[in-house]
Amino acid sequence: MSIIEKALAKQQQSSTSKSQQTQTNAEPETSTTPNTKAVTDDKATLIIDKASLEERGYLIDNGTRKSIKDEFRQIKRKLLNNAFGNVSKTLHHSNLIMVSSAKPNEGKTFVAINLALSIALEQDKTVLLIDADVLRPSVSRELGINENPGIIDYLSGQSEQVSNIIYNTDIDKLKLIPAGKPHHLSNELLASEKMANFANELANRYPDRIVIFDCPPLIGVTETLVLANLMGQALIVVEESKSSIADIKAATEHLNEDLALGLVLNKAIRSHKDLYGYYGYGYGTKD
Ligand SMILES: Nc1ncnc2c1ncn2[C@@H]1O[C@H](COP(=O)(O)OP(=O)(O)OP(=O)(O)O)[C@@H](O)[C@H]1O
Ligand SMILES: [Mg+2]
Repeated sequence: MSIIEKALAKQQQSSTSKSQQTQTNAEPETSTTPNTKAVTDDKATLIIDKASLEERGYLIDNGTRKSIKDEFRQIKRKLLNNAFGNVSKTLHHSNLIMVSSAKPNEGKTFVAINLALSIALEQDKTVLLIDADVLRPSVSRELGINENPGIIDYLSGQSEQVSNIIYNTDIDKLKLIPAGKPHHLSNELLASEKMANFANELANRYPDRIVIFDCPPLIGVTETLVLANLMGQALIVVEESKSSIADIKAATEHLNEDLALGLVLNKAIRSHKDLYGYYGYGYGTKD
C-alpha cells in the first residue's frame, strides 16, 4: 500500500472523530482591526483584513471554528517538529515548506495562509509567507492588502534588496513577501539560480523562522518541481472531489526523495467548507 493509500485509509478512519474534537487550548485573542487597506509606500506595515478573513472561513475567527483550528494545529506540529526537532537534521532546509497541489484551485492559498496564521498566532516562531504562485498570485488579495513589489521584482532585478520585499504585517510574527509585478518570465524566474540562492539565504540566515511558499500546482507547471528541490518539506493539498489517487501520484512521484511530504485533504468550496485535515505524512519512498 502506498503512502497515499495508507494516508487515505487513515484519514477516512479519523475524519468522523476529528470533527467532534473539542479544543482544549485557548487561542490568543486576535483583535479585529478596522478594514484599512495597506499603504504601498516602502516598508509600511501591511494591515491584514481580519474581519474579511474570518468571514471566508480562515483561522482568524476569535474562537468560533474550533475544529479547523485543531486540524491546523496538528499539521503545524508536524511541520514544526520536522523543522526544528530531531528529524530536521536529516532534511535539507527543514524550515522551508512548500504548499502545492496536483491541480489548480484545490485550496493551496487557503492552507498556506491558515498555516502561517496558525504558527504566527500561537507560537514563538516568526513565519514568513511567500506568494510564489507568481502566475496566479492571490495571497495579498486574500489578506485584503494592496499589491506591493515582491519576489518577482527581486528575482528580475527590479528590486535589489531582499529587505525591500519583506513586509511586516500587523500580526506581529507574520512577515510577507508578495508575488510582485507580473512578468513575462515569472515562472522561469522561479526556477532561476537567483531563486535557489535566495532559498539558501532564507534557510541559513533565518534558521529559526518558518518560511511557507504558496506555490503553483505540480501538474502542468514544471517550475514547481524545481522549487520543490529547494525545500525541506512539502504539503500537498488535495481537494477531495478533484484529484484522483492517480493524479496525486503523478504530481508527487518526481518530488525529491528527501523531502518531508505531507498531504492535506481539503474539502474546499463544499457545503461544510471544512478542512478534513492532515492525514498522512511520509518520507522517502512514494510508491
Ligand atoms: N477549506 C476551505 N474552507 C473554506 N473555503 C475554502 C477552503 N479551501 C479553499 N477555500 C476557498 O476556495 C477558493 C479556492 O481556494 P484557494 O485559492 O486556496 O485555491 P488554490 O489552490 O490556491 O487556487 P489557485 O490554483 O488558483 O492558486 C478560495 O476562495 C478559498 O478561500
Ligand atoms: Mg492559490
